[in-house]
This record gives sequence, structure tokens and C-alpha cells, in this order.
Amino acid sequence: MKPVEIKKDIFWVGAVDWNSRDFHGYSLSPRGTTYNAFLVRDEKTVLIDTVKSDHLPELLCALAQACGGEPKIDYLVVNHLEPDHAGCLDCIVERLKPEKIFVSPMGEKALRSYFHNSKDWPVEVVPTGSSISIGKRTIQFIETRMLHWPDNMVSYIPEDKIAFCSDAFGQNWASTERFADEVDRGILTRLMADYYANIVLPYSPMVLKTLDALAALKLDIDMLCPDHGLIWRGYDDVAFALGSYRELALQKPANKAVIVFDTMWHSTEKMALAICDGLVSEGVSVRIMSVKHNHHSAVMSEVFDAAAVIVGSPTHNNGILPLVADVLTYMKGLRPQNKIGACFGSFGWSGECVKILAEHLAGMGMEMIEPSVKVKNRPDHETFQACFELGQKIGAAIKARLAA
Ligand code: FEO
Repeated sequence: MKPVEIKKDIFWVGAVDWNSRDFHGYSLSPRGTTYNAFLVRDEKTVLIDTVKSDHLPELLCALAQACGGEPKIDYLVVNHLEPDHAGCLDCIVERLKPEKIFVSPMGEKALRSYFHNSKDWPVEVVPTGSSISIGKRTIQFIETRMLHWPDNMVSYIPEDKIAFCSDAFGQNWASTERFADEVDRGILTRLMADYYANIVLPYSPMVLKTLDALAALKLDIDMLCPDHGLIWRGYDDVAFALGSYRELALQKPANKAVIVFDTMWHSTEKMALAICDGLVSEGVSVRIMSVKHNHHSAVMSEVFDAAAVIVGSPTHNNGILPLVADVLTYMKGLRPQNKIGACFGSFGWSGECVKILAEHLAGMGMEMIEPSVKVKNRPDHETFQACFELGQKIGAAIKARLAA
């Protein structure tokens, strides 16, 4: 795409990845994504972040156009070393030979371990509080460790009231629009939450601290530029993005339950439906998610704001079915908070399923609702009644929690 001038002499020079569906190899990105990079033209020409390596030609093309000829940079700011933003760093350094490369203290460690040929690169470490002059403008640096890697930082230009915020406040959305105010707000908000639920969630305590630290700095920001998706433009939208992140980090549960299950011969599936009926009778909104039909990241997007997670599996070889184990492993790593948990399943002879499921959920700190329901082979009327009552009991626990 052509560069887009987002403020006077500041250009978006990133790439739109319309075909991205498997973001980072673990999370779905059904609407694609973007790798945002920015060029600031002042006495020094500064490139802020780069793109995923297979999009290097697009970056070079946009840079050439923004520079009015051959691509040329004096400084390179690397807010984040993950390869979707820094995978082509060696090519950029070799080709454009920046005078200086600015990274956070943790960024330097990451840079050295990713780029073994970087010994002679002109790297300067810029911890929180440091700034550089690029002519009429300055760039201030603020480390945002674990949002979502140790090396992340924000680069802020006070003269333009613009902050380049790396992965924070981003969304996976390939679009021809560049600004949040040009797209559907409902979809955008959902995509930002999906990104948060699958990537940033484990670091929620750090997000809250970072938001407090940024507020304490009283930065005057009227444009917030994430490295993925749409740019937040204007004070209202910047406040919306900051406020949304605080809400996401607080993980307040909604009146919603997610039933996640796998099934062999449909016994566990039928139990899921009966539990759903019990929840619905208590006024709870329910998502029923078969792991055969829902990727673990889609499950996590729903689990994120649910008050309860109910997991079902048949017993299989003295364990649980592999796709259920996959979802539970993924969920555990993302450390969701404030959840109620419950389990169910069917079995043929040994019947360990619910014990194993309960250990997983309790291990994530969930408040477990008992008794779990398990049935040998096919559920009968009594089993369905037990499932319905489990759903009711979970519904009552959700109500109590939301009222507290
Ligand atoms: Fe978009 Fe952490 O990389």
C-alpha cells in the first residue's frame, strides 16, 4: 500500500497481511492483520518498527514513497523484537545503514539473541526516561515490560502528541482504512478483545500497572499507534482505547457461561445440552463450543469474559480426549481470572475424565461447582436431570458472584 501521512511528516509505512489466519502459530486471525511501521521525517529521518520479513518489499516500497525517492533512514527505533515487527531488522540495517538503532534495555538482550550478526550494529539502549532529539521533535521512551514481552516500549513524540505503542491497543484486522474512526466500532472492539484474550491476558496485572504509570506521566496523547490494526485518532478515541484496556485487564465476568467439550459417541455432547438448559433456566447466556468445531483461540475469546467455564470429555485411555487437553493447556497459559468451573463426561469402563478435568480447572484457580456429572456409556433421564441441576447450580453461583 501507499504510505499514509497520519500527521504532518509522519507516515504509516507498514504492510497489510490480508492472508494471515494463523497469528503467531497459535491464534486465529480470521480478518487478517497489519504490521504497522511509521516514518518520521525531521532533521533526522526515523523509522519506528518494521514488519514481518515476508512483507519487507512492501515496507521498502512505502519507505521509498514517503522519502520521495530511495528509502533512507537515519535512526531506527525498535519498540519490540518479536519477528512480526523485527523479523527483517537485519535486512533493513544492512540495506539502509541507520546511524543509530534505539532499543529498550531488554530489547538489546532480545536483539543480540535474535541477530547474531548484530555485534557491530550502532545500538543505543534507551531506558524509561531517556529521550533523543531528531530536529524539531524529540522522542521519549517508556518501557512497557511484559506488555506483552519483556522488551516492549512506547515511543512518544510530545510535539505531535503521538505515541507508538507496539502491540498494546492493537487488533488483528487487515483493512484499507488506517484509523479506528473509519471502521465499525463494534467489530473493532471485539477484535481488540480477541487480541487481548489470546495474547496479552496473562500479563493483565502488568497492564494495569503500566496504564497507571502512563497516566502518572500525564502524557498529552491525541494519537495512539499500535503495531497491529487501526490507529486511535483524537482524544476521545485515545481515551476509549486506554479505558478499554483497563476494562479488559480487570477481567470482570459477564452473565455468560462457556461449555467446552469433545465427544466420541455423543453422550458427552448430550450432557452439554442438558447443562446448557439448566444455565438458561437461571437466565445465563451460554456458548456451547465443541472443540472439534472451534479452535482453542476462538474458545478463549469466549471464555475471556465468561463467568463460568464448564468442560466435558469422555474418558479416553484413562485420560481425556486430546483436543480438550489442548484447550485446557492453552487456557492455563493465559491465566484467566475470576472464573467458576465445573466438569462432566461419559465413560466406558474406568471413568477418570471428570477427576482430571476438575484438577485442570481447580489448578487455574476456578471456584469449582460440585458434584461433577459422569455417566457410563449413555446418559439416561436421571443423568440429564443431574446435568440440568448442575447447570442451575452454576447459574446460581454466577448470579451470586455478579451480585457481590
Ligand atoms: Fe505483534 Fe508481540 O508482536
